[in-house]
Amino acid sequence: MRLTVNAQEHEVVVQGHETLLAVLREQLELTGTKLGCARGECGACTVLVNGRAAYSCLTLAAGCASHSITTVEGLAAGQSLHALQRAFIEHDALQCGYCTPGQLMAAVALLARHPAPSVDEIRDGMSGNLCRCGAYPKIVRAVQAAAVAMRADSSLDGVR
Ligand code: FES
Ligand code: FES
Repeated sequence: MRLTVNAQEHEVVVQGHETLLAVLREQLELTGTKLGCARGECGACTVLVNGRAAYSCLTLAAGCASHSITTVEGLAAGQSLHALQRAFIEHDALQCGYCTPGQLMAAVALLARHPAPSVDEIRDGMSGNLCRCGAYPKIVRAVQAAAVAMRADSSLDGVR
């Protein structure tokens, strides 16, 4: 089957039971998406499916033929990091970093829905992603900072 990942089409051979997570990591070598609990509890495997956050450990690859998948590798534009990636670095929103790709993808989906989220909306939007290191306060600050930066960028777009 063909799988569209980060705007590129790939030819993959998929068994009916195989998860999107397994295909991304093992066939496409996109290992930024992490395997944590493998049962929909930790969010380490979060990717975007048609712009919405999804646990790739619970998503069958065979069902993704007509979908657009985005992984953490698809966030940066060349050498230019996504505003959320920059904010996570600037606000030191990670310790071990294992949960970070999933946190980033959940945050991208959150800010697409709520460009100016309240702290409660950030906590709610990120509630499907666990951080074993407890970096939550800094993750919230990073998402707030990225939201401000992204709104500033999009208002500049309007005057360019
Ligand atoms: S690995 Fe998918 S939710 Fe934990
Ligand atoms: S930074 Fe380590 S699990 Fe989140």
